[in-house]
Amino acid sequence: MTTQLDVRTPTARYPVHIGTGLLARVGDLLGGSGVKPGVRALVVTDDHVASLGYADTVAESLAASGIPSSITRVPPGDATKSLAMTEHLYRELLRAGVQRDGLVVAVGGGVVGDLAGFAAATYQRGVRFVQVPTTLLAHDSSIGGKVGVNLAEAKNLVGAFHHPTAVIYDVATLASLPPREWRGGMAEVLKHGIIGDPDLFAALEAEPCATYPGSLAAERMVAQACQVKIRVVEADEHESALRMTLNLGHTFGHAVEHASGYRLNHGEAVAIGICLESHLAVRMGWLATAERDRVVEAFRRHGLPVTPPKDIPSDAVWAALRLDKKHTHGGLTFALPRGIGRVEVARGVPETLVTAVWQEMEERRT
Ligand SMILES: NC(=O)c1ccc[n+]([C@@H]2O[C@H](COP(=O)([O-])OP(=O)(O)OC[C@H]3O[C@@H](n4cnc5c(N)ncnc54)[C@H](O)[C@@H]3O)[C@@H](O)[C@H]2O)c1
Ligand SMILES: [Zn+2]
Repeated sequence: MTTQLDVRTPTARYPVHIGTGLLARVGDLLGGSGVKPGVRALVVTDDHVASLGYADTVAESLAASGIPSSITRVPPGDATKSLAMTEHLYRELLRAGVQRDGLVVAVGGGVVGDLAGFAAATYQRGVRFVQVPTTLLAHDSSIGGKVGVNLAEAKNLVGAFHHPTAVIYDVATLASLPPREWRGGMAEVLKHGIIGDPDLFAALEAEPCATYPGSLAAERMVAQACQVKIRVVEADEHESALRMTLNLGHTFGHAVEHASGYRLNHGEAVAIGICLESHLAVRMGWLATAERDRVVEAFRRHGLPVTPPKDIPSDAVWAALRLDKKHTHGGLTFALPRGIGRVEVARGVPETLVTAVWQEMEERRT
């Protein structure tokens, strides 16, 4: 079975193919997106994903459709999302002979997608790129066109909007994900449930999906979560208001992720962030305590952390919060839950309130 969703924004239109065995059909599927034989491609992947053979399968599929490609491997991990690595990719693109009509194909998780997408957005003022996600979390990062890299000071400080030509999601690749990465991806799936699919959230609450459930169930769940993201991105392409709801858990989440020195993966940090922001929403009178408890319990039952680890220094969290793009002079901006299925943006949240939530959590840290 294959599911096709479509993303339609004022500036872009592209398919999201979700199914099993799609790595071997990348070349074929790109034909439907107007990619012509003869253009050259650079396949970007990381060392783990390369060792599983996924990038080779994609390159073979491209070759069979008349698209010659080279494969370049980057080290796994968020530190790879850097300007230095972007420059490395520019040189690889030059070496591979990729021209303005060429293609960057990102085969991997959100790190590879964000980095390769940013290189594609800026190389020769923009070449096409294709997302071939291989992590559960990348159902989120591969859709919407946000690409970018980190600076030493904070995450995602440099970036662009550059939509992919297509997203080709072979859910069979998720079978090889380490359990911790699966759980991290579930944090963003639960996030999408809280933002816009209360039925998805309720189903996961009733029956947690803490390990890979098989390709059919994975396809269904991934499609539901992608659908929430697509709906929001279509309604607000450039993050003026509605799209900011996708940042649920990310104001605290990014700060905690950065302050942990990336020992927490992105999904774990988002799980902690959503729990902290649910406590904040209760303090602000936005969320009923019973709903907050449902949120925290759902993350706990998926094996995700719900409080920040003890060894994360509070001052590092605060330094990162103040550098956050969502921080303005009037206070902090959060996307906060009002209920399961309803998230709204709160601007100018006073630091005193945020401090109170953090201090309350300090006492419960594990
Ligand atoms: N652009 C966006 O809108 C957006 C949204 C959410 C997250 N992100 C970014 O995504 C990144 C996190 O993405 P991620 O969680 O996919 O991390 P990741 O890309 O680091 O992948 C996680 C780990 O899994 C390995 N891996 C990947 N696929 C595998 C597979 N099929 N089998 C076995 N191992 C596999 C990787 O090598 C890596 O070690 C963060 O940098 C985050 O900021 C971006
Ligand atoms: Zn995220």
